[in-house]
Amino acid sequence: MTTFKINGRQVQIDRDDQTPLLWVIRDDVGLKGTKFGCGIGMCGACTVHVGGRPTRSCVTPLCSVDGADVTTIEGLDPTGQHPVQRAWLDGQVPQCGYCQSGQIMQAVVLLQDFPDPTDADIDAVMSGNLCRCMTYVRIREAIKTAAKLIAGKAT
Ligand code: FES
Ligand code: FES
Repeated sequence: MTTFKINGRQVQIDRDDQTPLLWVIRDDVGLKGTKFGCGIGMCGACTVHVGGRPTRSCVTPLCSVDGADVTTIEGLDPTGQHPVQRAWLDGQVPQCGYCQSGQIMQAVVLLQDFPDPTDADIDAVMSGNLCRCMTYVRIREAIKTAAKLIAGKAT
């Protein structure tokens, strides 16, 4: 039995302890916003926060989150109005949308680490989050917009 918190709610999961966290999030907890892309930690579609850090849930065994705090895209903000989500909407970033929850989860931590990120910071931190629709330019702009929102320099 593995016990952890997901979006502030404690859950107990009775599964093989090597089960990927992504399967647990989607199939056991029923949160479908976190996506399966490559399954080998190479695309970022499955990114969630574990202990506040970006984590590829497809390659994270269930046993490793015992006692941890996990946050998914659904838990970022109760109304979907986190500054990064607002910036994504303002910039109309998504195309098909498949990669975008992972992009947003990665960008949230980027902005905690780099509150006023340069293009180089953004490219370095976001390079592991792939987008088949090539929304990279809009992602970069939305991250800069979100930085301003967080700093209170935009409304
Ligand atoms: S699905 Fe996890 S990194 Fe691609
Ligand atoms: S928006 Fe389609 S894969 Fe990124």
